[in-house]
Amino acid sequence: MAPATTYSFFPRFLLFSVCLFWGYAVEAKSETSVTVQLSSLLPSPVCTPSTHAAGRKSSLEVVHKRGPCFRNGDQKPNSISHSEILLQDQARVDSIQSKLSKDSDRADNVKQTDAANLPAKDGSVVGSGNYIVTVGLGSPKKELSLIFDTGSDLTWTQCQPCAKSCYQQTEPIFDPRVSNTYANISCSSTLCNALTSATGNAPSCASSTCVYGIQYGDSSFSVGFFAKDTISLTPTEVFPGFLFGCGENNKGLYGGAAGLLGLGRDQISVVSQTATKYNKLFSYCLPSSPSSTGFLTFGNGGGVSKSVQFTPLSTVSKGSSFYGLDITGISVGGQKLPIQPSVFSSAGAIIDSGTVISRLPPDAYSFLRTAFRQKMSKYPTAPALSILDTCYDFSKYTTVSVPTISFSFSGGVVVNLEVRGIFYVNSQSQVCLAFASNSDASDVAIFGNVQQKTLEVVYDAAGGRVGFAPKGCA
Ligand SMILES: *[C@@H]1O[C@H](CO)[C@@H](O)[C@H](O)[C@H]1NC(C)=O
Repeated sequence: MAPATTYSFFPRFLLFSVCLFWGYAVEAKSETSVTVQLSSLLPSPVCTPSTHAAGRKSSLEVVHKRGPCFRNGDQKPNSISHSEILLQDQARVDSIQSKLSKDSDRADNVKQTDAANLPAKDGSVVGSGNYIVTVGLGSPKKELSLIFDTGSDLTWTQCQPCAKSCYQQTEPIFDPRVSNTYANISCSSTLCNALTSATGNAPSCASSTCVYGIQYGDSSFSVGFFAKDTISLTPTEVFPGFLFGCGENNKGLYGGAAGLLGLGRDQISVVSQTATKYNKLFSYCLPSSPSSTGFLTFGNGGGVSKSVQFTPLSTVSKGSSFYGLDITGISVGGQKLPIQPSVFSSAGAIIDSGTVISRLPPDAYSFLRTAFRQKMSKYPTAPALSILDTCYDFSKYTTVSVPTISFSFSGGVVVNLEVRGIFYVNSQSQVCLAFASNSDASDVAIFGNVQQKTLEVVYDAAGGRVGFAPKGCA
């Protein structure tokens, strides 16, 4: 061996080793765990709006129902506990699963409720983890804060004179008598029949005016006249003749919101009613906390982010208004969990803006929990919180290191969850993994709204796809 060779060999070898080590260290930092300030997981009493919605003409600002960004909203400190929120979330999930159930006994489960003087079937549940946008209705337009919901179709708001009952809401209740563009839909109109698929109830008739009724599994409901009026999604995005429910008998846990904005796939949804302009494309970003804001944008006028990755929409069940997805895998700390693909394919999955906690098939959840617990083993555990069985006591920490979690969807789409999309925080001493197991392997999986936080989620119903991009909002 000549000295010259030795001389050139060693530096190169050293350089190679350094590169390898450096590459590994970088990967470990960006892909297997993330260190966050604990304070960033805790709620703030002050609203810090993000800037996205301003300046895009078809964008609305999205705020959480319970938090400082929803003025006069449901903010009383003890108005509802986290256990109650999670119980309501379970009620929503139960009703979604009974609607989508392949078992017809469960799907046709007819419940007798005191909701309305209408045949009572299992409806959807408004649930508790809701996000709100403000739209204008009527002429002159009146501002109304509505819960937006990709899991239902009919848009409705409470209406004066509240013949039977109205709950308390933030804004004055809409009065059709002072809107000069308001009109009732008559019972003989074919539009009236469209209510059956949108609400699950056949319409009824009162002095030749079409009457809708929608009731939710948690015994919330709205009953009233099916009507049309001008809706202003934003000051410049105005749609005359928008079909909606003018509710004169309403009850439920809507937390000060004036009603619901239905973003489902049925023909009556706002997505379908604005299809000629937006081609059934909308996107949203749910803020990381109730003290920040996100956006809901119709159409791609502002341009969807270039980093959006699309996965095909799947059909969960015929005629269902839900947006279906195919989950193909889950990784924790950069390692793919050994879940059989059939676990996901036999259950199917949907994405839902109104379900708080993602639900997974029992086998998938069990692998996720085991891997997560293993990687979090240095932290003290805390008691379970309702349906959440993997909780930690971070009261002695200022920063925590959290394994990354990513979801793979068909089409090779990988979605990395934001840290606040991994935890549900009750308090610093009870921070829980924000996933739960379905009770039955055949129950549909749900990609819920905690997991969607800060992602830009693009629904392209005409193109048959749903897209995800990171860092849509703060
Ligand atoms: C809508 O129909 C109801 C019930 O028939 C009626 O009381 C109300 O005046 C109607 N409103 C309009 C604007 O026609």
